[in-house]
Amino acid sequence: MKIAVIGTGYVGLVTATCFAESGNEVTGIDIDARKIAIIESGKLPIYEPGLLELVERNRRDLRLRFTTDMSAVRDARLIFIGVGTPQSKEGDADLSSIWAVGDALAKQLKDLPDEGPGSRVVIIKSTVPVGTNRKLMERLHAAGCKHVDVASNPEFLKEGAALDDFQKPDRVVIGVTRPEAGEVLKELYSPFLRTERPFLVMSLESAEMTKYTANAMLATKISFINEMSRLCDKFGADINDVRRGIGHDVRIGFQFLFPGAGYGGSCFPKDIRAILGMGRQTGTEMKLMQAVDDVNEAQKHVLLNKVLKHFGEDLKGLTFALWGLAFKPRTDDIREAPALTLIDGLLARGAKVQVHDPEAMPNVREIYKDKLSYSERPYGCLEGADGLIIVTEWQEFRNPNFEVIAGLLKQKAIFDGRNLYDPKLLENRGFAYYAIGRGR
Ligand code: UGA
Repeated sequence: MKIAVIGTGYVGLVTATCFAESGNEVTGIDIDARKIAIIESGKLPIYEPGLLELVERNRRDLRLRFTTDMSAVRDARLIFIGVGTPQSKEGDADLSSIWAVGDALAKQLKDLPDEGPGSRVVIIKSTVPVGTNRKLMERLHAAGCKHVDVASNPEFLKEGAALDDFQKPDRVVIGVTRPEAGEVLKELYSPFLRTERPFLVMSLESAEMTKYTANAMLATKISFINEMSRLCDKFGADINDVRRGIGHDVRIGFQFLFPGAGYGGSCFPKDIRAILGMGRQTGTEMKLMQAVDDVNEAQKHVLLNKVLKHFGEDLKGLTFALWGLAFKPRTDDIREAPALTLIDGLLARGAKVQVHDPEAMPNVREIYKDKLSYSERPYGCLEGADGLIIVTEWQEFRNPNFEVIAGLLKQKAIFDGRNLYDPKLLENRGFAYYAIGRGR
């Protein structure tokens, strides 16, 4: 099938590449010539494990190409939109990119012949407030594109595991107004659904709402466990044991109940605020979602509060080593990362900060420049530090050499935002060990 994918961010790039990998002829389009030039030079504008190799192979085999030229959509039967929908100043989703793409599409598609339902489908993959797909359809129809179907196809991929999530989805959700659009998308997705994964067809609004509801549920689980972990700290209970104690109940399960320094990234914070925005617009009180957001904002300060508990309010003259800056492992993404809140808090109290992250340092350097010192290796940033703070659970931080750590730190204090270590073991080694919901 001939496919165009507009947007070369995480969603667009992964979508374009995986559809090319399953045998389709795909053109990735972006108005940002810089991004297209990066891809054409054999690199990627983002970091995602395994993606570069796949992009390169499909480009070489001529199933995947990239361009800034919007007229490439004229050849495509399916046109996916994967552009950004960032948070606006008011906290709602900023849809200006979606409307700009819609208008550009109308210009290209309006003079093409009507070949019947499902013959040309524009599909929004970006996360958009409920009602957006229908508005796009009305906009396209009003601009002379009555022959174009609009479908919603929310994306459930996780950064760092995007290729696997795309190629082995739990389910594919599609919102349509005419069944033919659903049928052509089912054909497109069939290579990824061979293990009896469900292909769920519903209305545009239900598909849009499914995406928000899924992320809201996941974010709620995290804020829930984070809130319980605070109570564990107060009573000397261990949230790790509690988590195991509840997870065996299959109605609860083990997934997504790891406490931490708060969720970050480009999805959960923005999506929860978009839900609050939809609530405001419709006069619907969203008390639980407000609480999920509030708990998360507070949780981003939990590590700093533990540092202050140990060292006192004034951190002048102290130096801290930070392991992990990305909002989660296996990505260089620092959007809404708890590490940034922590860095701001430490700097504001006069501390010096030495950081290490396997992938995210260039992005952090762009923001903080020479306000921080950057270390290419994990142990490098420990030298002369008064404490080690772990914010992101990269695999390489899980089993470090504690003797080396003790030798490099000036004071043996570890603040672990991801509960990586055994508290008893660290205390036996003479560390003051603070974790999340484990009694301190
Ligand atoms: C999230 C969802 O997991 C995807 O299903 C969804 O498609 C995506 O948003 C999206 O809307 O595009 P992502 O933001 O890439 O994916 O990252 P997650 O792996 O879900 O992690 C989000 C945050 O939650 C991270 O900061 C992570 O550290 C935190 N988290 C996750 C916890 O604190 N505890 C947990 O148990 C799990």
